[in-house]
Amino acid sequence: MAAPEAGSQEVLVPADHLMGVYSRAPLAFERGLGVHLFTEDGDAYLDCMAGIAVNALGHAHPTLIKALEAQGEKLWHVSNIFRIPDQEALAARLCELSFADVCFFTNSGTEAIECALKTARKYHSSNGQPERIDIIGFEGAFHGRTYAAVNAAGNKTYVSGFGPELPGYVHLPWGDFEAVKQAAASPTAAAILIEPVQGEGGARALSTEWLRNLRTLCDEQGILLIYDEIQCGLGRTGKLFAYEWAGDAYAPDIMTLAKALGGGFPVGACLATASAAKGMTTGAHGSTYGGNPLAMAVARAAIGEIATDAMLDHVRDVAGYLTQQLEGLKARHPDVIEDIRGKGLLVGLKLKPNNRLFMQWAREEKLLIAGGGDNCVRLLPPLIITRMDISAVVEKLDRICTRAAMETAGAAA
Ligand SMILES: Cc1ncc(COP(=O)(O)O)c(C=O)c1O
Repeated sequence: MAAPEAGSQEVLVPADHLMGVYSRAPLAFERGLGVHLFTEDGDAYLDCMAGIAVNALGHAHPTLIKALEAQGEKLWHVSNIFRIPDQEALAARLCELSFADVCFFTNSGTEAIECALKTARKYHSSNGQPERIDIIGFEGAFHGRTYAAVNAAGNKTYVSGFGPELPGYVHLPWGDFEAVKQAAASPTAAAILIEPVQGEGGARALSTEWLRNLRTLCDEQGILLIYDEIQCGLGRTGKLFAYEWAGDAYAPDIMTLAKALGGGFPVGACLATASAAKGMTTGAHGSTYGGNPLAMAVARAAIGEIATDAMLDHVRDVAGYLTQQLEGLKARHPDVIEDIRGKGLLVGLKLKPNNRLFMQWAREEKLLIAGGGDNCVRLLPPLIITRMDISAVVEKLDRICTRAAMETAGAAA
């Protein structure tokens, strides 16, 4: 890069040294506690984003801190050429809690997706059908930012400018089962990849009927079913995994997890049945950091807190209360809220006013909410949120909706 010309007035601030890939809010936090984030000035924000479904146990959860500190004093990293007992224990626990037989640990969600895609294609090639490479995905999907993940989701904004799109990715409209049936019948079909509750696409939940139909279709066509539960898994919908709403008989072959798995510590996982993972033999895949002792210790602690009847009962209770309160809000502000969607504590409000503006007004009310496709805002609070916190959230939303209605009326006048 050319240096600024001599005598130029250009002054670079530290943020200018970051790649400009994010559209950041002009806000920084110093610390967090429970469902609150605090700025350096001590301003408290109610966090209904939770790092986009990451901080499932809220901020500074004592069990996670304890696990991190204890492991931090013992061993941070060791290569995967050695046994890592905590990795084995976490894999065993996740398999015990789900349909899966085996697990591969990653550092992020998108790497878990990479593993899922490779597992699916390797399954078919090891079955003597290497031509089966097509991954069937859906409009509005988000699977992360690696090259394969953006191609799998197919969002043009995320793939354009990066050279040719990868072969073997099919994109279908949301909600068109006939199109899915047709794509699945292709002799080159490998797998269906879908989020049981679409996150970034605007909190769109698949019905139980859809989940069941997808399983049946995959069985009929001999292709694999991959659920991306990176955002909607691990308690967020009120079941440990979103696929469970359809019943265990309709479980996927492969499932990706991340986000809540480490409660804020970077870790992801690709879970699979032994059959689906048959091609993932020695040398087929790997990672330097994936499954390191530090991540495993924190994830084991996080799972210990999340995978309990008490936590899942709590999520169902507060999610029911939230939905009920939001229905009331929608009834009071029909000019602002068009629709309420999602499942559990992954809720989308489809708005009439611009969602980005709404998020800004929310920040001014000291409420943090996420954006989403289809002009939605998403509420993804920590799972530990209480009914009292939710009442505070809805009070803030009420004021924001009143402002939105006034500003929209003012702009129209
Ligand atoms: C459903 C889904 N899949 C994959 C990803 C990618 O995860 P990561 O950003 O950890 O790579 C995300 C992240 O938002 C997600 O919501």
